[in-house]
Order: sequence, then structure tokens, then C-alpha cells
Amino acid sequence: MNSKHKRNSFSGSIGFVLAAAGSAVGLGNIWRFPYLAAIDGGGLFLAVYLILALTFGFTLLTTEIAIGRKTKQSPLTAYGQISRKWKPLGILASLVPVIILPYYCVIGGWVVKYLLAYLTEDTSAIAADGYFTGYITQQFMPAALMIVFLGMVAFVVIRGVNKGIESFSKILMPLLLLLVIGIAIFSLTIHHTDADGTARSGLEGFMIYVIPSFKGLTLRSFFTVLVDAMGQLFFSLSVAMGIMITYGSYVRDDANLMKSINQIEIFDTIVAFLAGVMIIPAVYTFMGSQGMESSGPGLMFVSLPKVFSEMGMAGRIVGILFFAMVLFAALTSAVSVMEAIVSSLMDQFHLTRIKAAVLETAIALVAGFAVCLGYNKWYFELPLPNGNTAQLLDIMDYISNNCFMPVVAIGTCILIGWVAKPAFIIDEVEKTDSRFGRKKLYVGMIRFIAPVLLAVLLLQSLIPAAK
Ligand code: ALA
Repeated sequence: MNSKHKRNSFSGSIGFVLAAAGSAVGLGNIWRFPYLAAIDGGGLFLAVYLILALTFGFTLLTTEIAIGRKTKQSPLTAYGQISRKWKPLGILASLVPVIILPYYCVIGGWVVKYLLAYLTEDTSAIAADGYFTGYITQQFMPAALMIVFLGMVAFVVIRGVNKGIESFSKILMPLLLLLVIGIAIFSLTIHHTDADGTARSGLEGFMIYVIPSFKGLTLRSFFTVLVDAMGQLFFSLSVAMGIMITYGSYVRDDANLMKSINQIEIFDTIVAFLAGVMIIPAVYTFMGSQGMESSGPGLMFVSLPKVFSEMGMAGRIVGILFFAMVLFAALTSAVSVMEAIVSSLMDQFHLTRIKAAVLETAIALVAGFAVCLGYNKWYFELPLPNGNTAQLLDIMDYISNNCFMPVVAIGTCILIGWVAKPAFIIDEVEKTDSRFGRKKLYVGMIRFIAPVLLAVLLLQSLIPAAK
């Protein structure tokens, strides 16, 4: 079967926007955005992030979605179709989701575990010191729940673009938004008094989150805020992972691309902002300012359970709703990661969807096992160039996010900005009645500003002193 002739497409704009927003809204929004906002001057970070989203993020997202729709190919073959010499960039772009999927599924398995734990266990037991480490170092359960999560992802992908990805996103994304808004409102209403009589409220935490803090701000620390916001935006929008090219390739030729792109950006940014409203006031109220300095697994699986256990009866319900919401966010993102690979295999090797999905599931399974073993039998600690010590999961995360993705994005900017020329994208966007707003900005960004910003991002990951 030549997939080019039988390519699936999203049934309409809503399906596309929700699927792409489902990809964008993931663990990155929930466990990294609030933390960065807390340490990078609250409202200052939010303002920088918003400006970057409207310029840098908009440029990368538009480019990838338009490449997909124009070539009707997934990343492995799309780059080569624009210019044959650029095929290797397609190979690199397709390797990114191959590396990300296994560890994303391991983390997905941890989320399943916590959801089950809030349904069946005592909230104070889940908050006890060592609970998280005790769990991830076990040999059997983390691997078993990684398989459960991977199985759900594969199920959706095998069902295809319409019956799988689109229908699934149409159900989960509105639910996710509802949960995020509900938990955020709850978080604003809480109060707590410590044993020493210190009282704090969610509203105070919210103020810390949104009011810009210029305390101790120097040019150097502003540069840190800028680099942090850029790195976050990059991961959050699912660009440079081949995903948006793949999803773009399923967009119908008569769809208004610009409108959809704006909606995806708004959705992703609102959920990231609301994740901060859910988390920062809650952590501040129960743990004070120092509680806000954890991110990633530490925030989600260690600090937040401590907050939930302080909430008394409400803690269990909030815990269940919170981890259900995280599960939805992680699932829709993981589905897009797998789809980028499956679609690439279908385009390049003309495999059927089911064969491609089974093959990728097997690869992710083996690599996922290795990641699980990285926390027990294969435990090691390796210092990374950015100063962190890492296990297998962190190494895969570092290679994909800090090394390959900036290189893919820089390559994409050079290819479109200088080889194919920006008109390649602009014409595609304007093919229907869609007007390309911010056109001049786009040209300046893709040719000059975005590659320079990306090079800075790459350098600061490789050389810690560059930050
Ligand atoms: N964009 C997805 C996330 O933020 C991958 O987790």
C-alpha cells in the first residue's frame, strides 16, 4: 500500500486542534512550567514566555505544521522531499520520538501507579518519605505499569487518525481542561496554619505566581529567565520531535491553518498557566516558599502528595482528580510521539499501520524495560555536561531534548529560511483563505532570530557555564 495515496486526515479543524493541543499539553506543562515560573520571578517569567510563544513558538509551530501539510509526509520523508540533501535531518527528527517514547511510557506508568494509589491507599502513606524511590526501584510493578500505559497508547494509534487519535483527543482534552480549571479554583481557596502559627493562603501563593519579581534581577539572571522560557516553550509545543509535521500532514487542504495554529498555542499556554495556578498556591500554602523549588518527578510524585496529605478528606479526591488529569495529558502526548514514528515507518517502508505500530511498540517495550532497570539492577550515576547527574532516563531525556531537538530545529530554520525560502511556508498557509498574520515577523524569526536563539539554547545545554 502506498500510504501517500491513502493518507488519513483529521475530519475537521476541531479534531486537528484538539489532537495537536493534546500533544502539546503534557508532562512539560504540569511539572516544569510552574517550577520555572516560581524560580524565575513569577510574572516576569510569564511575560517572557508569552512574548516568546507569540514569536519564537509561533514560528516553529507554523513551520512544522505547514511542512507536514505541504509534503503530506511524516518527518522521515518530509525533509528529503523539500530538498534531497536534507534527508538526514528527517532521520534525526524521527529519532527524537524513538528516544522519547520509552521513557515517557515509564513516567506514564508512574502516573498510573499514583492514580491507583490515591484510589486505594492511605494519603499519608503515599506522602511518606521514600515512597516514590521505594516504588521506582522495585523490579516488577514499574515495568508492568509501563506496559499498561504503552498498551493504551498503542491501542489508540492502531485505531488510526480518526477513530483513534481524533476521537480520543475530543473526549480527553475537554475533560482535562475541566479538571485543570476545577483544581485551579480549589487551589485558590485553600488556607493553612503551620504548627508555629504561620498562616498562608492560596490567594497569596497566586500573587507570588503572577506578580513580576525584579528582586536581584541582573542582565545575567534575565538571560537565565529567557533561556529557561525558550527551552520550556520548545518542549511544550512538541516541536522538533517530528510530531507537528506528522499531524500537519493529516490536515485537510481546505483547513484554515493560521486559525488552528493560534488555537493550539492558546490552549497550550492556558493549560501551562493554569498548571501554575493549580500547583503554586497549593504548594505555597502547605509548604511555604521553599516547597516551590522542586520540579519534575520531585514535584509531582514527592511534594504534591505531601500537600494532598495535608488537605485531610479533600486530599484523596484532589489526588485522584490530579493524577487522572496528568494521565490524560501524558496519554495524548505519548500518542502523538508514537504516531510520529508509526507514520514515518508507514511513509518510508510502506508498512501497514498495524505492522508499524507493533514494531514500534516492541522497540519501546525493550527500551522501556531498560529504563526501568536503570532504577534498580542497572543503576548508575553519570555526570552530564549541564552539571546534573543522570540515570538512563535522564540521559535519554538529555540526548533528545538538549542535543537532538535544538539541532533539528536549527536545521529546520536553515532549510526553510535559506534553502527552500520562507515563501515555501507562507504560500502553504495562504493556500486557502487563511491570512498569514505576522508575516514579516515570521521571515525575520525563521531566518535570523530563531536559529540564533536555538544555538544559544544548545550551547547552554552543552556547556553549563554558558548559562
Ligand atoms: N509537549 C509534550 C509535553 O509538554 C511532549 O510533555
